[in-house]
Amino acid sequence: MCPGYTHTVTGLAQWQHCGQAKILVSVCRREIGIGLRPMQELDLYRVLEIERGAYQYPWSKGIFLDCLQAGYCCWVLENDQWVKGYGIMQVLADEAHVLNLCIDSQCQGAGFGRRVLRHLMEIAAGHYAQNMILEVRPSNKAAIALYYSEGFNQIGRRKKYYPNHKSREYLQGGSNREDALVLSCPVDGARGDFYPLGLA
Ligand SMILES: CC(C)(COP(=O)(O)OP(=O)(O)OC[C@H]1O[C@@H](n2cnc3c(N)ncnc32)[C@H](O)[C@@H]1OP(=O)(O)O)[C@@H](O)C(=O)NCCC(=O)NCCS
Repeated sequence: MCPGYTHTVTGLAQWQHCGQAKILVSVCRREIGIGLRPMQELDLYRVLEIERGAYQYPWSKGIFLDCLQAGYCCWVLENDQWVKGYGIMQVLADEAHVLNLCIDSQCQGAGFGRRVLRHLMEIAAGHYAQNMILEVRPSNKAAIALYYSEGFNQIGRRKKYYPNHKSREYLQGGSNREDALVLSCPVDGARGDFYPLGLA
């Protein structure tokens, strides 16, 4: 079982009173922890559903498949046996690059994004990364707040990095591209705990 993946199910039957009768009802009580596990190809249907619901410019299935096949760190966060989000990261030498971090738009603001980000940081540290970088839209206030609260700082800006032609700004006469902020955070790569890179 993958590190950090907790999962318990308790099924039981109970006698309950129903009027004068005593009937046996089956109760399935579930205690299912939130956990992360490596993404598999079978997850892609749900992953794409989340991706399309969360981004104006979602990744295609082909991009996710390429990430899986390339052996990038691809993790899903499950809660109550249902995928609620995912993170994708490439580790190259001493640098970890977060390529995607996304939580189901119905479940945002519940701490899942922070959880996935911290998990990616642990994996990066396990691979001796010294640094984690990522790009984020300046308009993505929620993501920026999350990254800054986890120790990221801006180290650069990539001009006209993202498409923007569906945005309100563009429709009001703005640019059809949006810059990316490049954020970086030191990673404690000296710890050396080894986690699998992502493929199950
Ligand atoms: C950005 C994203 C990953 C954050 O995940 P999340 O599960 O919603 O965030 P969390 O509940 O873990 O919150 C972590 C922190 O993010 C910030 N945050 C989250 N939602 C916020 C909001 N609506 N406005 C401002 N800050 C917000 C807060 O600092 C929060 O910490 P706090 O709860 O202690 O105040 C998620 O909103 C998402 O998937 N967005 C769409 C995809 C995306 O933009 N990904 C990032 C690409 S760079």
